[in-house]
Amino acid sequence: MVALREIKSAEEVAEMEAALAVTGAMHVAAMQSSRPGVVEHQVVGIMEGIMRRHDWQLAYPSIFSRRGEVLHNHAHDNVLQKGDLVLNDTGCTSGGGYASDITRTFPVGGRFNQQQRKLYNIVLDMQLQAIAAIKPGVRYLDVHKLAAQVMVQGMSELGFFHGPVEEIVESGAYAIAFPHGLGHQIGMDVHDMEGLGEDLVGYDDSVQRSPLFGLGYLRLGKALKAGMVLTVEPGIYFIPALIAAWQAEGRHSQYINYARFAEMTGFGGIRIEDNVLVTESGSRVLGEPIPKTVEELEAIMQQ
Ligand code: GLY
Ligand code: MN
Repeated sequence: MVALREIKSAEEVAEMEAALAVTGAMHVAAMQSSRPGVVEHQVVGIMEGIMRRHDWQLAYPSIFSRRGEVLHNHAHDNVLQKGDLVLNDTGCTSGGGYASDITRTFPVGGRFNQQQRKLYNIVLDMQLQAIAAIKPGVRYLDVHKLAAQVMVQGMSELGFFHGPVEEIVESGAYAIAFPHGLGHQIGMDVHDMEGLGEDLVGYDDSVQRSPLFGLGYLRLGKALKAGMVLTVEPGIYFIPALIAAWQAEGRHSQYINYARFAEMTGFGGIRIEDNVLVTESGSRVLGEPIPKTVEELEAIMQQ
């Protein structure tokens, strides 16, 4: 079944791009309606109204929260405050039954502060470098590690890590800020075919799942093939409970500047996610572009 379904036909890709057109409109509407004083579920309702006008459904329960550091946080009851970063992971399913899965993160009030901008641009760099590395034959495990290296390099310059970048990635210390996988296949299911067995979909005889915290949650590690569609969704999160637990046991303390991490309580999380087709020579981001750079997000939020 995995061999049958993991190479998408042109018709399947067209269905995913149809889903992405509506998902993109939902994300833009969320950017434009996330003002201080608005409750998260009011924005969720605006997004879902756009989708329901097509008689379509969500591909998975929306994550829309100023507490973006809580992964798979499905509560929508916070009041948005000026200066918050809000994380929106929302995608609909097309009429033909194909999923989309998009994440954007933006500042309530429409302007990133300096710290948010620096960390946001590291996540954007992680995502763009990962997308550029995608081509047939490349193991997604190695693309994940590339994204982690880009993060550690950028965050070391801001004082969060110290030591050799590769060592920090190989030890798993990096996962204090990026504790999930870079992505997964997508198609008729948002986590495509994982109901058949996650390892059957994401791993094979040549690539084993890592036992490390963080990397062990990578759903897709095996070599990529032309025709696969997958998500590229790196992030940086400041999770107070995780930081406190690791600090208490002194985990990776030779690499992690815990004092710097402790300053970040309340910052939240940043994730940027697109759906990407593996082509014969590289990759193509599916759908029309959805605002993603700092400048694009600030401009759309001013409208
Ligand atoms: N969209 C949520 C996830 O990929 O887990
Ligand atoms: Mn996803």
